[in-house]
Amino acid sequence: MWLSVDDYYKKINSDSRKYFELNDRILAINGDIIPLNFSKVFKNDNKIIKLEIGFGNGDSLIKLALKNPRINYFGIDRKMDRIRIALRKLNKLEKLNNLIIARSGTEYLDKIINNCTFDEIIMNFPDPWPKKRHHKNRTINPEFILILNSLLKKGGMFRFASDHEEYSLEILDLFINSAVFENAYSEMYKNEVNERIETQFERHKKRDGCKIYYMKFRKV
Ligand SMILES: C[S@@+](CC[C@H](N)C(=O)[O-])C[C@H]1O[C@@H](n2cnc3c(N)ncnc32)[C@H](O)[C@@H]1O
Repeated sequence: MWLSVDDYYKKINSDSRKYFELNDRILAINGDIIPLNFSKVFKNDNKIIKLEIGFGNGDSLIKLALKNPRINYFGIDRKMDRIRIALRKLNKLEKLNNLIIARSGTEYLDKIINNCTFDEIIMNFPDPWPKKRHHKNRTINPEFILILNSLLKKGGMFRFASDHEEYSLEILDLFINSAVFENAYSEMYKNEVNERIETQFERHKKRDGCKIYYMKFRKV
């Protein structure tokens, strides 16, 4: 059943309270603050803002935020356990004023965030749903590409990484044949990217000898 944004956030915020006290490292989204005003959410004057969707255990997102204090990072994940793990890590650190996380699924993004908000959107190792009958559960599809496009500023980038060849090539095809993105790499994709902060999944997949597909697309 589709819940209204307001009901959805009431529900997940009350779920969240069962597990941890909401604090200023995690954003409790509700109707009062929609659409999100990131200049109020972040208490700094950074101009660049990046979104990571499905940050998992939060390791790489936290490292990115520590490495780039002049960039704001907003991370979402739909699963409670991932939020809890990332929040535990964040709570142990000195306050990072350029990283805020929220529990959210992508289905609500365009309802809570204004168009042309992000300089970059990152998705690392989204669930590939390998079985054909589960392909409908894949987050990235033609409709979602339009949402990504609307959330990005002009010239903004979408970065993607996955070890799943078939899903990666499907995504490549969707983006390069869309009228709203162009490939930002001169080759179709890369299998290595210099100076990248690896995610937990990336480390595991590389250790298992998997080939990784890195892609980058620019909003036109
Ligand atoms: C395979 S894990 C990858 C985690 C991390 N990015 C990494 O590379 O280690 C996929 C993550 O995306 C989250 N996720 C899946 N679908 C999502 C959606 N539609 N909206 C938000 N998060 C989602 C899952 O909860 C999970 O944490």
